[in-house]
Amino acid sequence: MPWPDGPWRRDLRRRLSAWYRRNARDLPWRKNGDPYRVWVSEIMLQQTQVATVRGYFERFMAALPTIDALAAAEEDSVLRLWEGLGYYRRARQLHRAAKIVVAEHGGRFPSDPQHVRQLPGIGRYTAGAILSIAFDLPHPILEANTIRLLSRLLAYRGSTHSTAGQQLLWHAAQTLLPARGAGTFNQAQMELGSQVCRPRDPDCPHCPLVRLCPTFRDSLQSKIPAPRPKPQIEAVREAAVVIRRRGKILLIRRGAHERWAGLWDFPRVVCDSPDASPTPAELTAKIRAATGVAADNFQLRTTLRHGVTRFRITLECYEARAAGPGMRKKPAPEMRWITLSELPEYPLNTTGRKLARLLA
Ligand code: ADE
Repeated sequence: MPWPDGPWRRDLRRRLSAWYRRNARDLPWRKNGDPYRVWVSEIMLQQTQVATVRGYFERFMAALPTIDALAAAEEDSVLRLWEGLGYYRRARQLHRAAKIVVAEHGGRFPSDPQHVRQLPGIGRYTAGAILSIAFDLPHPILEANTIRLLSRLLAYRGSTHSTAGQQLLWHAAQTLLPARGAGTFNQAQMELGSQVCRPRDPDCPHCPLVRLCPTFRDSLQSKIPAPRPKPQIEAVREAAVVIRRRGKILLIRRGAHERWAGLWDFPRVVCDSPDASPTPAELTAKIRAATGVAADNFQLRTTLRHGVTRFRITLECYEARAAGPGMRKKPAPEMRWITLSELPEYPLNTTGRKLARLLA
């Protein structure tokens, strides 16, 4: 594959920027270049679609309009604003980073790349996005949309996630950057990647770069980028249990190294068999091991199905009664007996919230 020469790169920049001027979507984080807005939007967009992020972004900014406000907020209220977006580590790291920006940079988001990269949750992509979009510094980005776009523009047929593939694509992203307007250029690439150079059924007839594209020329759109091997899907059965005692229900906070760290949840256990419901004895034993509480009288209320990474999870939701005060468990997870009316204040994962709505 010949490396694109100067005229090809200039042609690409000119065509792409003309297209973006006409086709940029009006997204809430594009209103101004406030680094805080760019930062929050880029963290939300890391694993989540633009359509989903929009509403979350507006609510987050209305509740926490400045870095100082975010730094001063309770972690539970930050997580509550993130509830439903998934990958909650992003929210906890954002919160931690805001405290660092206040403590070490006087509440102003730094523009020094080294300082930016030291903040929790900010990798090469996010640093490049913030530095280019908010500060107009010539830093490249590489994310799903631009990996696809650049692979096709370079007719790169290798693995896009291999070390060699990543090196090549980052290098391409760097050399394509214009000296000024890197932020607009980076956003234009993402926009073209998501709106036109789509994974399936790319809209080549409307692509401003079609005449520069060897993948179009050779009809290789379905082969480039190379499909990634599909992970083996594993079926798992879990049980979530609403345990009642004296008009209250038990919530447990997920530990720092667990899935959904920092969020609250109903006690949840993995069942022995992925294919059959657990027996009451199994539920009693596992709930006791997880919480120290002795529960009985399990009633199945609903079954929810969802996917997490490579797991297909069948979640059986039970109500049960606390048969006794239970034993102290060591190390003790953070647990609270709360009333149903307090549930809306607690950040829950998506299935936890579904179950909470069912109870309400
Ligand atoms: N995906 C990630 N960042 C984005 C941005 N700034 N605009 C559009 N899509 C994106």
